[in-house]
Amino acid sequence: MVFQPQTKILFSRGEIAKAVDRLASQINRDYQGKQPLLIGVLKGAFVFMADLIRQLDLPLELEFVKLSSYGTARESSGKVRMVQGLKTPIKGRDVLVIEDIVDTGITTSFLLDYLMKKKPASLKLCALTDKPSRHRVPVSIDYLGFTVPNKFIVGYGIDFDEKFRYLPHIYALED
Ligand code: IMP
Ligand code: MG
Repeated sequence: MVFQPQTKILFSRGEIAKAVDRLASQINRDYQGKQPLLIGVLKGAFVFMADLIRQLDLPLELEFVKLSSYGTARESSGKVRMVQGLKTPIKGRDVLVIEDIVDTGITTSFLLDYLMKKKPASLKLCALTDKPSRHRVPVSIDYLGFTVPNKFIVGYGIDFDEKFRYLPHIYALED
């Protein structure tokens, strides 16, 4: 699939930067005096996380997990598998999960359950985008960048079939 330049920009690079600033201010305020562990969900969250952490004025640490939900390129199957789990203990840590998209919520809720069992001191969720109309399980997002309509989005780390992650804006693919 070739990227169509006429595809609609949903959130421009400038709008994304503003959202990242806003989220960073909230996180800086809420985690004052703490040393949070940010857990990024690969691969989609890596660009967002890279921008976000550079606005954080906290002695934070980073980890990554990788999850896969077998399915087609656009649709989660509902069955989630941990492809790369955590390599450090999180017991007693203030954990903040960094996600690209909460779509059905199945992936995120699987991850939050997995992390909760490891007894962190606190567990919160920061998601760049949320599609509330698509939720199939309840997920509460503590820090949210954008609410997205029921559209498939790409760019700024987010892919369609591994493509378009490099685009600086977030685009909605037309059907
Ligand atoms: P969920 O388990 O249905 O919430 O899906 C979460 C994952 O599905 C995201 O982390 C993405 O990898 C993928 N996904 C869902 N919606 C989109 C989209 O609009 N664009 C690209 N990937 C998506
Ligand atoms: Mg994906």
